Amino acid sequence: MYFILLIAPKMNTFKTNHLNKSIFFPTIAYLNYWPKPKTMKSRYTFFLAFTILLTHYKNAGAQQPNINQIVRAMSLEEKAALVVGAHTMPGNDGLLKKEDRVPGAAGHTYPLSRLHIPPIYFADGSSGLVIGQKRQTDTAVNYYTTKFPTGTLLASSWDAGLLRQVGNAIGNEAKQYGVDVLLAPAINIQRNPLGGRNYEYYSEDPLLTGKLASAMIQGIQQNQVGATIKHFAGNNQETDRHNINSVISQRALREIYLKGFEIAIRESRPWLVMSSYNKLNGTYTAENKDLLESVLRKDWNFSGFVISDWFGGKDDIQKLTAGNDLIMPGNPQQPQAIVDAVKTGKLSMAQLDRNVSRILKVILNTGSFKKTPRGHTPDLAAHAKLARIAAAEGMVLLKNEQQTLPIKRGQKVALFGSYGYAANLFRGSDQKYQQNIAGALASAGYLCTTALKSFYEQFITERRAAAYQRNRDMSSNEPMVSKEMIDAQGQEADMAIITISHNNKMGQDKNVDTDFNLTATEKELIKNVSEKFRLLAKKVVVILNVGCVVETASWRDQADGILLAWQPGLEGGNAIADVLTGNVNPSGKLAASLPVKYSDVPSAADFGSYNNAVYHEGIYVGYRYYTTFNVATAYPFGFGLSYTRFNYDHLKVYPPVAGRPVKISFRITNTGPVAGKEVAEIYVSAPKSAIDKPKQELKAFAKTKLLKPGESQLITLTINTIDLASFQTGISAWVADKGAYTIMASASSTDIKLKGVFVLKQQLTKKVSDVLKTDDVSDELKQNDF
Ligand code: BGC
Repeated sequence: MYFILLIAPKMNTFKTNHLNKSIFFPTIAYLNYWPKPKTMKSRYTFFLAFTILLTHYKNAGAQQPNINQIVRAMSLEEKAALVVGAHTMPGNDGLLKKEDRVPGAAGHTYPLSRLHIPPIYFADGSSGLVIGQKRQTDTAVNYYTTKFPTGTLLASSWDAGLLRQVGNAIGNEAKQYGVDVLLAPAINIQRNPLGGRNYEYYSEDPLLTGKLASAMIQGIQQNQVGATIKHFAGNNQETDRHNINSVISQRALREIYLKGFEIAIRESRPWLVMSSYNKLNGTYTAENKDLLESVLRKDWNFSGFVISDWFGGKDDIQKLTAGNDLIMPGNPQQPQAIVDAVKTGKLSMAQLDRNVSRILKVILNTGSFKKTPRGHTPDLAAHAKLARIAAAEGMVLLKNEQQTLPIKRGQKVALFGSYGYAANLFRGSDQKYQQNIAGALASAGYLCTTALKSFYEQFITERRAAAYQRNRDMSSNEPMVSKEMIDAQGQEADMAIITISHNNKMGQDKNVDTDFNLTATEKELIKNVSEKFRLLAKKVVVILNVGCVVETASWRDQADGILLAWQPGLEGGNAIADVLTGNVNPSGKLAASLPVKYSDVPSAADFGSYNNAVYHEGIYVGYRYYTTFNVATAYPFGFGLSYTRFNYDHLKVYPPVAGRPVKISFRITNTGPVAGKEVAEIYVSAPKSAIDKPKQELKAFAKTKLLKPGESQLITLTINTIDLASFQTGISAWVADKGAYTIMASASSTDIKLKGVFVLKQQLTKKVSDVLKTDDVSDELKQNDF
């Protein structure tokens, strides 16, 4: 009877639904079966399993099984199994092996076969889906995925629409290949140029990070594939990564290290958050209730579930208690320990139920649960095309003296550096082809000299084949090129292009001497080539294929052009050629400042320490530091050249009325010779206050459409008044002081084009949870320190 009532409201829909029969017949079958289960509990379980099964087969307009009912039907053992990843568990009930259907995925949940709850699959995917290319079930098929550019490059596009498209493509590959949740995007702040995972992370600025991450998440989740925002939080170094204690003031946390997560969670509702490896102010983030409950759920209304990083944290019971719902990747002892903890009262059943419910809520939305058809045929050609567009959009032209670039038609290029002949991929499966720069220039009709091609191809084959096979690291040990060879190239070619390639080392931070600074061999190559070519009045261009910012100030005078190509993915060669030849006019701008020297970085003195990483610089990260303390950079945050010029005018600032946002509008005109796009940045200076304020902060940005020469675009942007606020520690509140705020429409953090002022008539205050305190960073950097 109960069952009939439950489905009754759906009967009308069923009449017009082609799934009628599949619902109706099992219903009759169930009613016939009704007297058979012997106890109430077995009746209930049967009924529930049956409802879940129905939902499985009937995803459109489905009645979602009630999560509380499922939790009530679960045994303690099943609950304990669900909160622990099943990846490294042995075959268990046999189902696991059969269900292990996405080889190369990072992990999956435990299947509850009795309740028809399938395992859901997680795969990495910061710059493209990471899964195995082969499956035992169909050895003839290659499960190719698309290697997109890394996070830093995507962020340098300043183009939310582009990130949405890339997210959509990665999400589509995940959906097609049976992955339910992507472990992306990774959005920690690039605190220091040596950060080992900076290449994945977006920026030194939380607003840019948060807005672009939102777009990426929306793109992924358009496919009914979940996104996981990670690593939450304070995961800014790789040294001692499983133990390091990030010591960060409440203010720096709220304004810098949590802000990007907050924006993305509020604006795009990712399904998952991944806690990080590190401790935060003394407690592992995976075990930190203040972080996972008070900040994430109470202050920000996060409604998905929290997953640990792989082997992150130490105390599993504390993780569950703190609101880290799923422990990854899982080992066979963990579920039993959880069962014991409930039996001894160390973990309450109510808490475990909360963890289970949150996981189930997501599972019920996944493709695996809904049996979404998997085509296994993503449009790889379209995705490669998008990867090429994205790569060219995020490259940053740092220098271009006397219009060295684009390369003039008919010029013969001497292409130095092995990256020009074997593009640099790392980690993950990818499509089988890879176009390097030499090949891409040739297909675009530009000639490279043949002697260098043979020289580098031989070098790659003979001396580095082994290293390449092992870790695809093409960056170390560039060969010395003899002066004789450089002389001959100078005679033969019309210009020189030198590629410098630094790769990422998983799980490690970078070195100042070989990663941030160019190596002695690289510097010597630039010097020798520059001397020879300039003597002959020929130009020299340097292309930087790097995951994060490097030193440029000591050698940039030897180059006429510098293109920061980042790590551009599988279409990198073509994208670089697009920019070099002018097929694409560069429009990327720096999402992180390029310091003159490493010691200028505000966190330089103690970055990469063991045990405690004390964030002495507080809120003064990146341009907030350089602009406030007048420290010159090699290239400032937000900087990037174009082959054309832009004019900014007609700034109008509409002050906020009745709680509405500040509105800003201005006009950008392409005043140069070719079509191009401009990134416009709005910085705001707050009025003087009782607390330190950085000189300026990015509060909005926009990228124009492709403007033809002479064409203009009116840009309109808004800023919510509460987003003008700073975090005041004593009262644990966001406070926007009343007074005059200066709005600066800028082409970079130091190139201010237009200024306007508005007055905030009343102070605004917004209280948040007073948590995550520390006394250990009392000597935080302040302006009057200088
Ligand atoms: C990384 C995560 C990743 C996980 C699964 C960890 O080592 O820190 O970013 O998602 O492995 O591959």
